[in-house]
Amino acid sequence: MPGQNRPFTPLHEMRRSGQRLVRKLADEAQLADEARFLKSWFDRPLMTGAVYPSGKALARMMARYVDPEVPGPVIELGPGTGPVTEALLQRGVDEDRLVLIEFNPDFCRLLRKRFPKARVIEGDAYALDRALADISEPAAAIVSSLPLFTRPEAQRMALLDHAFAHMHRGCPFIQFTYATVSPMPLKSRTFEAHVSPRVWLNLPPARVWVYNQPLD
Ligand SMILES: C[S@@+](CC[C@H](N)C(=O)[O-])C[C@H]1O[C@@H](n2cnc3c(N)ncnc32)[C@H](O)[C@@H]1O
Repeated sequence: MPGQNRPFTPLHEMRRSGQRLVRKLADEAQLADEARFLKSWFDRPLMTGAVYPSGKALARMMARYVDPEVPGPVIELGPGTGPVTEALLQRGVDEDRLVLIEFNPDFCRLLRKRFPKARVIEGDAYALDRALADISEPAAAIVSSLPLFTRPEAQRMALLDHAFAHMHRGCPFIQFTYATVSPMPLKSRTFEAHVSPRVWLNLPPARVWVYNQPLD
């Protein structure tokens, strides 16, 4: 290998121990998020809806359906500890465009620290009009990690209708699910639906559904 026999300099050593430290801190932060999530699941299993935060591959799959060029806020429902939020930033959405609606006050505190320019709203995503009372600009996308199957079909459909009313026409409502079927019922639907390939690099594997109103 090229450079294999080159002696290590103190600078190399410093870089290597720096990298080790960063990796260790990242692992600890990840573990801390998993512990927070588990606690939330024990406290409110139906609300939390998952035992682990979403992995990076799933978060990226959700974010890829957001077009950062479309103006307006990007609204996230159930951001938890923020893996999807992070992917939205990496997708090119400015932090000050993010509106995060989260029910769990501990997660809200964490989100405010992690994303100080985002607007964190502690509230119920199913009461969307109330949660978004101060936001008049139509959104570019709504990205949801809510555990939808814990709610009756009518309530899920009402959420989608309210979400469409808060977005530019044609913009996506993005939802992940571990289930094999669409969380929004597809029979007699008035919206378009698209599903991603399964994201195997997630525990458990998941898919992303995208719903939008037709443009005409
Ligand atoms: C499956 S977790 C997803 C968390 C995170 N987005 C992720 O992908 O790891 C669902 C999140 O939705 C939140 N949640 C559940 N019901 C909610 C509601 N009605 N309004 C707002 N947030 C809610 C939970 O507190 C939890 O943080």
